[in-house]
Amino acid sequence: MSIYIAGTGSYLPERILTNADLEKLVDTSDEWIRVRTGIEERHLAARDQSSGDMAKIAAERALEAAGISGADLSAIIVASTTPDYTFPNTACLLQHALGCRPILCYDLSAACSGLLYSLENATSLMRANKKYRYVLVCGAEKLSGIVDWSDRNTCVLFGDGAGAFVLENRDGGDDHLPVSCLGANGSYSDTLKLPAGGSRNPASFETVEKRMHYIKMEGRETFKLAIKAMVESSNQVLTDSGVSPDQVALVIPHQANRRIIQAVAQRLTVPPDRVFDNVNRYGNTSAASIGIAFDDAVRSGRLKRGDLVLLTSFGSGLTWGAMLFRY
Ligand code: ACO
Repeated sequence: MSIYIAGTGSYLPERILTNADLEKLVDTSDEWIRVRTGIEERHLAARDQSSGDMAKIAAERALEAAGISGADLSAIIVASTTPDYTFPNTACLLQHALGCRPILCYDLSAACSGLLYSLENATSLMRANKKYRYVLVCGAEKLSGIVDWSDRNTCVLFGDGAGAFVLENRDGGDDHLPVSCLGANGSYSDTLKLPAGGSRNPASFETVEKRMHYIKMEGRETFKLAIKAMVESSNQVLTDSGVSPDQVALVIPHQANRRIIQAVAQRLTVPPDRVFDNVNRYGNTSAASIGIAFDDAVRSGRLKRGDLVLLTSFGSGLTWGAMLFRY
């Protein structure tokens, strides 16, 4: 049995918001944003475009790359902090939109770590039961809908988009199964959250008035925790798999902030040319970021079949993880 990535796809909405555009919205500057985050621009979904709409396009591209159709899928997992609805789940909407059979469909909530959590989930399903031959894993976000465009601490950081993987469980062949280390610590749940809209604070005039439907973040604290979590989980998978950092062809970290990416690379002793970074173009797309980056790396030739790749992420929860596998 060998589970491998049969195809990837991504989608970024057309509209681009530059740092210069943000200078007109809040008291910030292109220089501040570039120096503190590395971000130059981000893509924003159209008003009527949902996370599910973006996931559908990314999924179609991944299915095409895998050479299969929606009807071949045996499960769909969607990671998103901005699903189309609380219910039904976005995976069900995709099941219908992609013309799939009546298969297992669910969403997974782990903020920016959602895609890694979903990949772990998908490979565990596939290992446990061979009927899950092709599994679609999508990360999709319309963060522009939950960003407070009057808060300069957060509005400069985020973007919209979707990334998708088609995993295949093949008979025989090399074992491409991932080695992973995923974790969480709920004591940091206030560090990064969307305070209202759930059962703790259901939507009301008061929650809207108090701007509780927008991302709240303690940036400095998140920054430190992110580096620690990504470095520790990455070192754990390297140790567990007996792989040294110089054997890894490409590290694809969650794209939140260039300074975080560089600090992680430095601590892992991986040279900068083997660390993928497209945060300048897309900003932080949360659960979609690793999917978008992975597809970018494949389509631009940075990642080749047989390469060892290390993914690592962190997000609200706090959740984090690392995953090492052969592409
Ligand atoms: N433009 C200009 N000045 C700003 C801006 C801005 N956009 N934002 C904040 N500032 C100011 C602050 O008000 C502060 O001013 P003060 O010193 O007068 O109080 C000053 O800049 C420094 O603020 P810090 O927060 O200390 O800046 P820092 O260097 O930590 O950078 C940042 C802030 C970019 C948010 C950084 O902390 C960071 O990237 N943190 C991690 C965030 C992250 O990755 N979040 C993703 C979570 S993923 C998920 O699950 C959704």
